[in-house]
Amino acid sequence: MGHDHAIEAEGLVKEFGETLAVDDVSFAVPRGTVLGLLGPNGAGKTTTVRMMTTLTRPTRGTARVAGHDVLTDPAAVRRSMGLTGQSATVDELLTGRENLWLIGSLYGLDKRTIDRVGTELLERFSLAGAADRVVKTYSGGMRRRLDLAVSLVATPPVLFLDEPTTGLDPRSRVELWDVLRDLVEDGTTLLLTTQYLEEADQLADDIVVIDRGTVIAQGTPLELKDASGKAALVVTVSRADDLAAAVERVRGAGLEAHVEEAARRITAPADGLSDVTRIASVFDGSGIEIDDLGLQRPSLDDVFLNLTGHRAEEVEDATGGAANEGEEVRA
Ligand SMILES: Nc1ncnc2c1ncn2[C@@H]1O[C@H](COP(=O)(O)OP(=O)(O)O)[C@@H](O)[C@H]1O
Ligand SMILES: [Mg+2]
Repeated sequence: MGHDHAIEAEGLVKEFGETLAVDDVSFAVPRGTVLGLLGPNGAGKTTTVRMMTTLTRPTRGTARVAGHDVLTDPAAVRRSMGLTGQSATVDELLTGRENLWLIGSLYGLDKRTIDRVGTELLERFSLAGAADRVVKTYSGGMRRRLDLAVSLVATPPVLFLDEPTTGLDPRSRVELWDVLRDLVEDGTTLLLTTQYLEEADQLADDIVVIDRGTVIAQGTPLELKDASGKAALVVTVSRADDLAAAVERVRGAGLEAHVEEAARRITAPADGLSDVTRIASVFDGSGIEIDDLGLQRPSLDDVFLNLTGHRAEEVEDATGGAANEGEEVRA
């Protein structure tokens, strides 16, 4: 506990009437690292962030930000952190520059500091060219970057980002990831919530997976993937004509082969590299040409499915929806 952790959650609970939105959530984020709070819609991510940023009071438990307790010293918590919420907080009718100026003056910064910091931020977030246009004319990606810039005016050491890339196109998403990596390199501690497994995989040092208000897994991306069980052996043959013969050989070696014809690919649950070597040898001198042979770790999607019994993208109350699409269900 304490000095090495920029953020700590300790048994956080939030009830809304009958709804138990967050149920005993604890974790700690070392200074200068990124924690990904990963979970589907309704998991309790926003509520957790709101408790940690003093916007809502925990029913039980507490949290500390930069060593300050949210219950006993909320003002110090607010001075130590920036927050970018799920909905944009910038003023549509002001320009990008005016938005930064407005926030800077609310924080009580003097004009010269605001000038310097504002110009720096506009450049860092590739908004210098659009600085004097009203925000109304910005693209989704530009708004998100301005949002982030605004939350950095007071240069907080800890930053909370609630689904920072939801609704962004893939290119803007990758651009924002780069900006976030730069921030972390400069020493900022980040807590970001996301529904995207790939995003957590890309950015987070540690991941806390929550579902229905409860922490269901915790670890580095690699640990979570390892814990979710078997790797898969993947063989891709060069010629479609060879596929059947290749399947026969994989099965002959005692593995359970699954075939994807269009991709000329065979996958089989495997124990590790020894299986890869074994399978490689059964193709020796067979005349079957192999494009690719390797071991694939489970994706975070597999991890999530394994832990929760449902895919992260599934809408919870879509009975018989996404999960069964394109599939005939027979009793
Ligand atoms: N102000 C509120 N009043 C009542 N229920 C709420 C409130 N805020 C959130 N909830 C409920 O708490 C649960 C968690 O919501 P939320 O924290 O927004 O999840 P997430 O951000 O992971 O999508 C949901 O069931 C949601 O309906
Ligand atoms: Mg949310």
